[in-house]
Amino acid sequence: MEYKNIKLEIKDAIAVLKVSRPEALNALNSETLEELKRAAEDLEKNGEVRVVIVTGEGDKAFVAGADIVEMKEMDPVQGMEFSRKGHEAFSKLENMGKVVIAAVNGYALGGGLELALSCDIIYASDKARFGFPEVTLAIHPGFGGTQRTPRIIGLMKAKELIFTGKMITAQEAFELGLINKVVPHDELMKEVFSLAERIKSCGQIALKLAKECLNKSLSLSLEEGLKLEEANFGFCFGTKDQKEGMTAFVEKRKPTFRGN
Ligand code: CAA
Repeated sequence: MEYKNIKLEIKDAIAVLKVSRPEALNALNSETLEELKRAAEDLEKNGEVRVVIVTGEGDKAFVAGADIVEMKEMDPVQGMEFSRKGHEAFSKLENMGKVVIAAVNGYALGGGLELALSCDIIYASDKARFGFPEVTLAIHPGFGGTQRTPRIIGLMKAKELIFTGKMITAQEAFELGLINKVVPHDELMKEVFSLAERIKSCGQIALKLAKECLNKSLSLSLEEGLKLEEANFGFCFGTKDQKEGMTAFVEKRKPTFRGN
């Protein structure tokens, strides 16, 4: 599949999806959002892929936000449409039946932070910087930031980030609970690949069903969530991987999972 603003590499069941517009610090224009959505759909269907890593081209930026040059002349209808495009692309990543890891290699601002927050796990370089500068442009986050951030770090902390537009370090983002881990810049991809390898070696269907339970835990009542957990837990027992995993445990050997 051909892309202009993203690069997609697949090796040993791990896909690396790189936003690549280095001339604009990987800012997200409409075309890039459409490509991200298409890539997420392709990765979902690709039986070879088990884990997806999302990162940015170059050494400076993960994604420096939505494209300000494109947004500058938008009218309200176009603004709404642009926001919808962002939501569609990021929701595809968020709901993909595979684990998606953000490797934040530099600036993750506005739409860039929103992209990272749509991933399942965020590892960041110690050089990364996070923030929602939208209000300094007299707009507010439009690719999910006002909705996902309070769900992840709580309402008050989300309000402080979004109302001030301030930029924070990776360490501060870690302390806020916005990201999972800070690693030395040069070791970011090594650490992310090691995480991906670990996840890759586990039962694929179990991971997919666990992700569904976890994601829905934020919108379902406890009672509804527990019902979903019962159903998905039961589903695992219909898979060959569950039999293999437990047989391997009893036989004191490593399991060989086939994703079925
Ligand atoms: N959109 C378009 N172009 C961008 C961009 C963006 N979000 N961010 C950076 N660029 C471009 C710059 O215009 C510049 O282009 P030129 O070389 O043609 O002038 C190039 O990338 C390099 O950027 P800088 O020269 O500004 O680099 P710097 O090191 O001095 O600063 C920065 C880096 C602090 C990240 C700065 O570029 C910056 O503040 N960028 C904008 C960040 C921002 O406001 N993001 C939020 C956008 S709004 C949003 O995302 C809405 C939403 O929720 C949907």
